[in-house]
Amino acid sequence: MSEHGHGHGHGHGHRHGHDDAGDLAEVLDLDAELLAGHTAGIIDWLPISKPRHIVDLGAGTGAGTFALLSRFPEAHVTAVDSSVEHLQRLRAQAGERGLADRVHTVVADLDSDWPDLGTPDLIWASASLHHMADPGHTLAQLRRTLAPGGLLAVVELAGMPQFLPEHAPDGHDERVPHRGADWGPMLTGAGFTIEGDRTITVHIERSEAVERYARIVLKRRLDPEALEEALRRDDLALRTERTVWAARK
Ligand SMILES: C[S@@+](CC[C@H](N)C(=O)[O-])C[C@H]1O[C@@H](n2cnc3c(N)ncnc32)[C@H](O)[C@@H]1O
Repeated sequence: MSEHGHGHGHGHGHRHGHDDAGDLAEVLDLDAELLAGHTAGIIDWLPISKPRHIVDLGAGTGAGTFALLSRFPEAHVTAVDSSVEHLQRLRAQAGERGLADRVHTVVADLDSDWPDLGTPDLIWASASLHHMADPGHTLAQLRRTLAPGGLLAVVELAGMPQFLPEHAPDGHDERVPHRGADWGPMLTGAGFTIEGDRTITVHIERSEAVERYARIVLKRRLDPEALEEALRRDDLALRTERTVWAARK
């Protein structure tokens, strides 16, 4: 049958870069779909009423951007990410939802020269600060960027999501050094005042989306047979934890 384009001729099993990027985008979209209610709850909890300009830092495919646009109908969002692909996906979705004029995207590596992000009154950083090489430096930049009295919302995960009860609770993912860190002291050290923090336990029963999510995560840990067996289990569920810190400039 016909070939599938450029992947052929370079040996097999060596397209992890591409697969990983595709998997990550899909995981971000599944996260957005499955955790929409939790994200909305976190945004409602934030001590801010009518932000006009919001920055979504490390926006990915836009889980936070769209939740924020929906909660704050008068706001516009600047979505920043180093991934051109993620931001393209975010823009396409914004177009489909009729929100294109309220979203501005900026491609930037936040570990290098700081981009011009305007003077937002809310910065939302969800599952992104732990990727930064020097989070203390990034927090100082964020504080400079915020409008006077502005709010920084940091949302972080305790670890990788778990799908089987015997795997939960999971420790920290060793490959991502700052994940699972306590951001409280770092925020205070950068000059912010913490107005609150909150940890949410997420448990979402199996559904077709949970199964798709589990397949992506578990295929790295289990052999194909064990994977199929795990995916058939009734106690398959998405288990994770999110902590949010509300930090005032
Ligand atoms: C786990 S995703 C979170 C996406 C989104 N905030 C969410 O909650 O679904 C982390 C995002 O941070 C971005 N990122 C990682 N390092 C970055 C850097 N140095 N500069 C800008 N973005 C970065 C990645 O491209 C990815 O989209």
